[in-house]
Amino acid sequence: MRLQSKRALITGGASGIGRAICEVFAKEGASIVIGDMDTVGGQETVELVKALGAQVSFIRTDVSKESDVQNLVSETVSELGGIDILVNNAAAFVFGKVEDVSRSDWEKVLGVNVIGPAQMVRYALPYLKLSQAGAIVNMASTASLMAEPTMVPYGSSKGALFQLTKCLAMDLAPDGIRVNSICPGAIYTAATEKHLAFTGFDRDKFLAQCADESLMKRMGEPEEVAFAALFLASDEASFITGAHLVVDGGAIV
Ligand SMILES: NC(=O)c1ccc[n+]([C@@H]2O[C@H](COP(=O)([O-])OP(=O)(O)OC[C@H]3O[C@@H](n4cnc5c(N)ncnc54)[C@H](O)[C@@H]3O)[C@@H](O)[C@H]2O)c1
Repeated sequence: MRLQSKRALITGGASGIGRAICEVFAKEGASIVIGDMDTVGGQETVELVKALGAQVSFIRTDVSKESDVQNLVSETVSELGGIDILVNNAAAFVFGKVEDVSRSDWEKVLGVNVIGPAQMVRYALPYLKLSQAGAIVNMASTASLMAEPTMVPYGSSKGALFQLTKCLAMDLAPDGIRVNSICPGAIYTAATEKHLAFTGFDRDKFLAQCADESLMKRMGEPEEVAFAALFLASDEASFITGAHLVVDGGAIV
């Protein structure tokens, strides 16, 4: 029970890695509020988490909308009585070369992947300050650290989220709030299918290539990222801030 009596606000919990984080956090004793745009997936996660015996609720939220972020934070505080852990996991997957990307595409990807997390922190901050062990985990990517073809908007947004994490770690340390990021490599989720649809690559070849790029010769599971989030959110990481944890099976060593 590594998160016993901790109150966690998790974005993007309706699917993939975010759903796995909700399940792992619930098993470790956290109470949870999920903010996501996907109401159907959000309710599915709620049912999975309830079956584990944890307190959980879902608030439909677009993290790129300030009023939604404010509402999510205030609903979380009404439900849980405060916030100890914030996981900024929701993301928009906008791919392409620079000439393919419209201004509105840029506004979308930066709005969801960078400004959204920053606004989440802004509104959750008064409550994180009141926590005895405030922790923020931002879901960055190996795309924060290295370039890949036709990834200009997504990669730029994840690079910014990586640096946002370090800037926040510096400014929030005096309040006792730790801020870290996770950089997953290729993890099979709905996002993998979105990337496949964008590239038009042969599905089997693409998945085999993703697996081959890691030293472990396989793609990762969402739960393997969730355990990294668990560690960074827990008191076990009490002397870790401004750090990033790469979870990629050794793909970018
Ligand atoms: N899957 C991978 O290989 C991989 C690799 C590196 C990083 N990541 C990161 O992991 C995180 C989770 O991705 P995933 O692979 O589980 O994808 P996913 O598509 O399964 O989950 C993303 C979730 O974010 C939600 N979302 C999207 N836009 C939103 C918005 N504006 N407001 C609120 N919610 C929104 C979606 O509804 C969805 O539930 C993302 O930050 C992603 O960038 C994933």
